[in-house]
Amino acid sequence: MLIHKIEDVREQVKAWKKAGLKIGLVPTMGALHAGHKSLIDKSVEKCDKTVVSVFVNPIQFCAGEDLDKYPRTLDEDVKLCENVDIVFAPTPNEMYGEGHILSNDFLTYVVPPYFYTDKLCGKSRVGHFDGVCTVVNKLFNIVQPDFAFFGEKDFQQLVIIKKMVKDLNIPVEIVPCPIVREDSGLALSSRNKYLTDEQKDLALVLSKILFNIKSCYDRGIVDVKALSETAFEYLTPKHSLEYLEFRDSENLEEKTVADDDTRVFIALKIGNVRLIDNISLGT
Ligand code: PAF
Repeated sequence: MLIHKIEDVREQVKAWKKAGLKIGLVPTMGALHAGHKSLIDKSVEKCDKTVVSVFVNPIQFCAGEDLDKYPRTLDEDVKLCENVDIVFAPTPNEMYGEGHILSNDFLTYVVPPYFYTDKLCGKSRVGHFDGVCTVVNKLFNIVQPDFAFFGEKDFQQLVIIKKMVKDLNIPVEIVPCPIVREDSGLALSSRNKYLTDEQKDLALVLSKILFNIKSCYDRGIVDVKALSETAFEYLTPKHSLEYLEFRDSENLEEKTVADDDTRVFIALKIGNVRLIDNISLGT
């Protein structure tokens, strides 16, 4: 069932809650792919009812980012959601009010701690995670899910949302879901749609760098500087590296010596397309 209005979701959720049913939420910005499908299937398996939200959230895009050209494919998204109970696709006006004035002065924001947002993607995307936490909080209030499913592809987002849920005592269990990759190793992402065939080949370096670091670590190399240096053999002038960082999986603290709790994070640009990926060094 495709629903556009908050009020209609609330009405349905009320009936489900009354019947004692467990609700799963899969928040998305649409342009759904097999990665999203794996979250949806997990929710359907674990919960009595599943809601997928499809909303390109304007307040998590920074100036100069791809808000206007972000892929919007609602008809196809709905088809992929054949096994879900509600696809919730509100307009920006529905979510933020008529004329939605989105500056910090006119909207109550949920602002996660600077310690978690001043690094990795947050460094170049200032305010991005405020927008993410604000919309996810709104979705939690609208859908009141028992479980919410997030992909590990956006690992910093996952850590920040877990922190928000803990700090604000939100009664929802966050379920992390593993990254889904093409056979080539490329992590699935809605932004892969922007890549030409040549750029898609170039994009393979993200997973190649990460897999190689993991295999060096498995062979006993733990010095982060030495592990980082292995990346350079893969990078070409067509890759603009934003970061390659080794951080703790729980609290994103920087590591100088890698261990099983370490996650390696990479972001780079190919042309105008910014891609991210990550891998755990533990098993
Ligand atoms: O990961 C995403 O697609 C978005 O950041 C989310 C969680 C749906 C919030 O808009």
